[in-house]
Amino acid sequence: ERVWIFCVVTMLLLLTAGTMFYAVYDYGVVTKGAAFHADPTAPARETAFQDGRVIQTGPNAYSVYMVGHLWMWSPSPIHVKQGAAITFYVTSTDVLHGFEVQGTTINLTAVPGIVGTVSYNFSHPGTYHIICNEFCGIEHQAMIGRIIVD
Ligand code: CUA
Repeated sequence: ERVWIFCVVTMLLLLTAGTMFYAVYDYGVVTKGAAFHADPTAPARETAFQDGRVIQTGPNAYSVYMVGHLWMWSPSPIHVKQGAAITFYVTSTDVLHGFEVQGTTINLTAVPGIVGTVSYNFSHPGTYHIICNEFCGIEHQAMIGRIIVD
């Protein structure tokens, strides 16, 4: 009987350790930042995440370098003109956040160490709320950003 108990406990420990390793490794907790450096355009992009953040790339086109962190979106608010075509580059500096822009089809997960991208054309003026749809802690529900199209 003891042998069986030992076997079960060992299996549980192995499974737990394996799952934790997979989660940490795969979601980039350990490799945080590595995803940037594998890409030749990475240094410029890393800088964009740190300062610039909203970069005009055409007459009414922008690249937005959006960072999710406990518990806000940066940059916010963003001002753009009607018809603006925006390419979002989205990442997180801590845990998983959900990047969803209400009233649009934008919905992706902000993952530490990984840059997700999505493009959208804002054809109607108004205030669009960026909401976090991934539970990320005590102030999750207050993690709201704004995109103002005028
Ligand atoms: Cu960030 Cu929920």
